[in-house]
Amino acid sequence: MAELDAANLMKQAVGKAAADRVKSNTIVGLGTGSTTAYALEFIGDRLKKGELENVVGIPTSFQAEVLARKYGIPLTTLDVVDRIDIAIDGADEVDPQKNLIKGGGAAHTREKIVDALAETFLVVVDSGKLVDKLGSTFLLPVEVIPMALTPVMRALAKLGGKPELRMGIKKAGPIVTDQGNLVIDVKFDAIADPAELEKTINNLPGVLENGLFVGVADVILVGEIIDGQPTVREF
Ligand code: A5P
Repeated sequence: MAELDAANLMKQAVGKAAADRVKSNTIVGLGTGSTTAYALEFIGDRLKKGELENVVGIPTSFQAEVLARKYGIPLTTLDVVDRIDIAIDGADEVDPQKNLIKGGGAAHTREKIVDALAETFLVVVDSGKLVDKLGSTFLLPVEVIPMALTPVMRALAKLGGKPELRMGIKKAGPIVTDQGNLVIDVKFDAIADPAELEKTINNLPGVLENGLFVGVADVILVGEIIDGQPTVREF
């Protein structure tokens, strides 16, 4: 197997630490992205070894669903459960108040539903995701219903953002979300009030959800490399 680079070593370490916090007889929200993918793999390992029993997952995306099947994690839906005990999910930026930008994988709409419902929302990131101010390194993803694309782009520009339609890689044209919608990535020079901006954008007709997660995260696990070794700390 190819050796992992530093970023993947951090992701792997934090994914394992998150999987270690899952308990038997629980309903687990399964996040999206490359860091959560490691957590899903380790949850699957623990189920196979018999360390964990009776764990069912609620996927936040088609990717999470595919990985859960690959790693042998049984799945359920929000229609048949009355709670989510823990959700494990990645993030693109984390500020000192534990507010997040998510949506780098265009899955933030389902992620927000599942992560917000969880009793404990555990965020898994590598140290490169920590920022002083949201928006400083990452564009803010906004999922929009296709017919509203142009008016929503205009409205986002009026709010001071620089919107661009997210285009596919190895796919001609824009990316299409798991719900059949489009994603606009918006550059804001600084997001002074994330809670206000989250509400303002979600109030634009045609917007389904934006990637600001304010007051949703409970625990942040950060993977880092110290003295050449991957380590994990709670933020
Ligand atoms: C998916 O839409 C995102 O919210 C991901 O959770 C986020 O982009 C983190 O992904 P990585 O773990 O791959 O960085």
